Amino acid sequence: MDRNFTIRLFEEKDLRDVVNINRVCLPENYDESFFLEIYHHFPRTFLVATVDSKIGGYLMCRVETGFSETRSFRITRKGHVVSIAVLPEYRRRGIANALLTDALKSLSEYSIGECYLEVRISNKPAIQLYKNLGFSNSRQIVAYYRDGEDAYLMVKPMGSS
Ligand code: ACO
Ligand code: ZN
Repeated sequence: MDRNFTIRLFEEKDLRDVVNINRVCLPENYDESFFLEIYHHFPRTFLVATVDSKIGGYLMCRVETGFSETRSFRITRKGHVVSIAVLPEYRRRGIANALLTDALKSLSEYSIGECYLEVRISNKPAIQLYKNLGFSNSRQIVAYYRDGEDAYLMVKPMGSS
């Protein structure tokens, strides 16, 4: 199938659009400085999708060091998918799948042992997306979100460790 979208690195001129997509799509919102901070530290894993010459979605990650979710008591470098969203009118055409696939490729260049994220336990579309790309449920975090909903912490083992 022909893709009618393009994945590229985030640029500062995309900031307004990304902040807007985050507000439209998710209850977890951040101010501009939060996005810029992530961009300045991890520019290679902050991606946007362009469709019809507009920004249709974004994904941003951090690289962190901490306890492994998969191997007890090991300290490891971990990729953390902080936030991903695609505007409603552009969903179900593979954009999130492409964003996350490309981000995982870039994350692997940081020589991380695993990649993780948190997702609302009710968020079936996102959970399915993550499972398709090799993430599995590691544990449930009670009342992770401000409204009291639990999160699944999902993890994908990565090449090196
Ligand atoms: N129902 C069931 N499965 C779905 C759905 C859905 N509505 N949407 C996506 N999926 C699954 C499917 O398996 C799909 O593959 P398929 O279309 O071949 O069946 C796969 O995910 C990939 O779908 P994409 O088209 O790549 O996903 P899309 O571009 O539509 O974006 C996303 C998915 C990001 C979850 C979108 O629905 C969205 O922005 N939701 C609101 C924001 C959100 O929930 N973000 C994730 C929060 S958790 C975090 O950020 C770490
Ligand atoms: Zn997180």
